[in-house]
Amino acid sequence: MNMKVTIAGVELKNPVMTASGTFGSGAEYAQLTDLNKLGAVVTKGVANVPWPGNATPRIAETYGGMLNAIGLQNPGIDLFVKRDLPFLRQFDTKVIVNVCGHTTEEYLEVVERLAGEPADLLEINISCPNVKEGGIAFGQDPKAVEAITREVKRVAKQPIIMKLSPNVTDITVMAKAAEAGGADAISLINTLTGMKIDIHKRSFALANKTGGLSGPAIKPIAVRMVYQASHAVQIPVIGMGGIMTWEDACEFMLAGATAVSVGTANFVNPNAAVEIAEGLEQYAKELGISEIRELIGAVKE
Ligand SMILES: Cc1cc2nc3c(=O)[nH]c(=O)nc-3n(C[C@H](O)[C@H](O)[C@H](O)COP(=O)(O)O)c2cc1C
Repeated sequence: MNMKVTIAGVELKNPVMTASGTFGSGAEYAQLTDLNKLGAVVTKGVANVPWPGNATPRIAETYGGMLNAIGLQNPGIDLFVKRDLPFLRQFDTKVIVNVCGHTTEEYLEVVERLAGEPADLLEINISCPNVKEGGIAFGQDPKAVEAITREVKRVAKQPIIMKLSPNVTDITVMAKAAEAGGADAISLINTLTGMKIDIHKRSFALANKTGGLSGPAIKPIAVRMVYQASHAVQIPVIGMGGIMTWEDACEFMLAGATAVSVGTANFVNPNAAVEIAEGLEQYAKELGISEIRELIGAVKE
């Protein structure tokens, strides 16, 4: 049974990876799960300098999911390159570095710094709902998506995945804009903007007032968007949003995803991504297919 999939020339041993921001730097999870069994580890977003993140409280549980407004707290590229990247390289898995910024220049600084570093792919987060400038401001305007993709591609040494926001009217427009700018792949979905009010305090559950909704509650929206985006572009699509089980992952692949990311599920079960990869393999064996790739976009019309 061949579990391999390829994203922009990079071969993953299986299609299951972690979702940015839900797996720490990898070090925390390495004690709880086997990173060698993952197709790839996607790091928390890293910026040109350390970011302190937003004020607390920054997370709140909701029905079938959670809200977060971490605000992309991160140690900055210098420490990341010195401490986190070498740690992850010890494992037999691909490393995808997620990049964030407030301005085009900040994104480019990080991408340039990573040029000589052992990262397999870069994922450019233009879809974080929790930062005031940059992030989502780029991800909601197709012209800005195309422009920043082109700029990043100009300086990047690794293939580029553009991470798209679901907080848009038509995801196909954004997918096409990323492709037009030269993206090697796209990933979706990032979180959906939400709000929760604590009726006892009569105030917002999050200090930031709004936060990003993730978890099983968003899965049907994510599957729909992955289906639409994968039909709009030729480049590979990495699907995510509420994947808790291998059955969920399978839905995303049938909808058109070449690979999948597991996010919120890691908080419930640190071994979730590994179990999902194993479950997919078992399913494919029982189905009698010889390559997992056969599932990609194979939903019957
Ligand atoms: C606590 C938390 C932190 C996140 N941080 C990032 C981040 O730094 N960069 C990014 O691109 N996405 C970030 N995300 C979004 C996830 O990578 C993913 O797109 C989203 O949560 C949907 O997947 P899920 O429902 O499986 O969690 C974060 C999500 C959560 C819950």
